[in-house]
Amino acid sequence: MTGAVVPAVTARVVVTGRIPQAGVDLLVGAGHHVDVWTDDTPIPRDELLRRVAGAHAVVSLLTARIDDELLDAAGPQLRAVANVAVGYDNIDVAACHRRGVVATNTPGVLTDATADLAMALVLMTTRRLAEGERLIRSGEPWRWGMFMMLGTGLQGARLGVVGMGQIGTALARRARAFGMTVAYANRRPVDPAVASELGAVRLPLDELLATSDVVSLHCPATPETHHLIGAAQLASMRPTAFLVNTARGTVVDEAALVDALERGEIAGAGLDVFEHEPAVHPGLLGRDDVVLLPHLGSATVETRTAMATLAARNALAVLAGADPLTPIGVVRPTG
Ligand code: DGY
Repeated sequence: MTGAVVPAVTARVVVTGRIPQAGVDLLVGAGHHVDVWTDDTPIPRDELLRRVAGAHAVVSLLTARIDDELLDAAGPQLRAVANVAVGYDNIDVAACHRRGVVATNTPGVLTDATADLAMALVLMTTRRLAEGERLIRSGEPWRWGMFMMLGTGLQGARLGVVGMGQIGTALARRARAFGMTVAYANRRPVDPAVASELGAVRLPLDELLATSDVVSLHCPATPETHHLIGAAQLASMRPTAFLVNTARGTVVDEAALVDALERGEIAGAGLDVFEHEPAVHPGLLGRDDVVLLPHLGSATVETRTAMATLAARNALAVLAGADPLTPIGVVRPTG
């Protein structure tokens, strides 16, 4: 049989921002009425609240806050909130569960892209790549010199992974290929086979911070991880160490980071996420020892397509009365 699947009941699905067409096609192909906010700027809150009224599913970008107010505005027929992201700090999962709304995210499909970007930040910070690029573009005269723009080698350096979930583990694999050793801080030990493959040692966070040459953050944003890296933690790091954050900006106290860089408590930072995103602390902007990227972790064509189709499949499964592929099962994310 060919042609679109006609569901028993046509549902109304609101997509809070532009997603790759493959995701929209799945929803439309299943016979649902799909309402996509197609502007590139985030949907204004009042417009979002108006649009979700009567929706059966919301496919949400991480820029849309899904909370009691939105769930009330949607109404009791709402069945699913499918986030197009692995992080779900934009969703009040408990509020969803209280109403019997299934919440889902997109783990797995963005692991490699995000780990690639974290490794790129490790290289950019330790080898001063953005600084070098800025020099060339500035038009300032330069010539090769034995001591020009020396960086830090990775061979034998320790990578400290905070939050050894899928992305942290994928970064550790990449770091091993660059000759780094791996330590990690995690609530639970990783699978012994993975630990032995990576030669990874589990350390308490304070010991990891004090002994790592590069600290990379891969924990979710929760009340427990808010400002996990603050003034005291930064002061405990090596003055030659670098901090990389591709997780969520709120994990780092950005003002404390600026102070620590200013005092030379750490050597530099590579940031893909920001505490008050999209705003960036002004104290970071003029510094050569930081690399700043606009939340590009999962930004490849292939990955964004996979995220959109997984989110659409999650919404479709719930609308069809089936189990979603990747539900958010707990109120507190575990990474
Ligand atoms: C996520 O999926 O949580 C990422 O931050 C989006 O790129």
